[in-house]
Amino acid sequence: MYANSKIPESAQPGVHEQLKAQVAKHASCTFRKPCLDYNKAAFEASLAGWDGHAPLILDAGCGVGHSTIQLARAFPDHWVIGVDQSEDRLSRKKPYPDALMPRNMVFVRADLVDYWRLMAEAGIRLARHYILYPNPWPKIGHLGRRWHAHPVFPYVPQLGGRLECRSNWNIYVEEFALALGWLTGRTVETGSFEAPSPLTPFERKYRDSGQTLYRCVVELDPQTNLEETP
Ligand SMILES: C[S@@+](CC[C@H](N)C(=O)[O-])C[C@H]1O[C@@H](n2cnc3c(N)ncnc32)[C@H](O)[C@@H]1O
Repeated sequence: MYANSKIPESAQPGVHEQLKAQVAKHASCTFRKPCLDYNKAAFEASLAGWDGHAPLILDAGCGVGHSTIQLARAFPDHWVIGVDQSEDRLSRKKPYPDALMPRNMVFVRADLVDYWRLMAEAGIRLARHYILYPNPWPKIGHLGRRWHAHPVFPYVPQLGGRLECRSNWNIYVEEFALALGWLTGRTVETGSFEAPSPLTPFERKYRDSGQTLYRCVVELDPQTNLEETP
């Protein structure tokens, strides 16, 4: 049945007690896992249609890609990249016929663990970066699977721009904001928000199930205006 989705259940009552140590450890060591060839090829493919000048938007973990399409329509002068590891999700039917799909976007199948590092190591800077409804991994023992406690996380703020994470689990967003704050020296605000026009299928499902939605947003390049939508 639609609109009966549950808020993640966790034995964890608040921010994970190991989070700070984990983030500090990852910030102090180099992440040495080699990037796989298929992720390198996906990285190249994601920039092949970019003119080298248009501001970049990354929709990280875009799922079926509805948010990528909406972002490309909202920012027609930007190059928008939707990355997901699931070919199945990426290839699902889109809400527009091919002829009406925006031309300023691309979908690539890649593992973000490599993709983010390839972007950072290439010196790419983003205008906007969305991490929308990442898998929450609510079990206490799964802290290291949450993006902010993963060894790749220190690369994420290096990409700059306006970074936004959304979740239906308030603890995920609080942890994400704290980890970002520790890595960047900034205070990252969190809060709940309404989604009158949901950006993603997960957002729609959670909203229609009556859940509170949470997000944190930080402007990593201070000169940019945070007020623009979506
Ligand atoms: C809960 S879904 C959310 C999808 C979409 N953002 C939405 O809100 O509808 C999380 C997505 O992250 C993707 N994902 C998880 N780990 C990933 C990784 N390491 N690299 C790329 N995508 C990943 C999954 O395939 C899945 O599509």
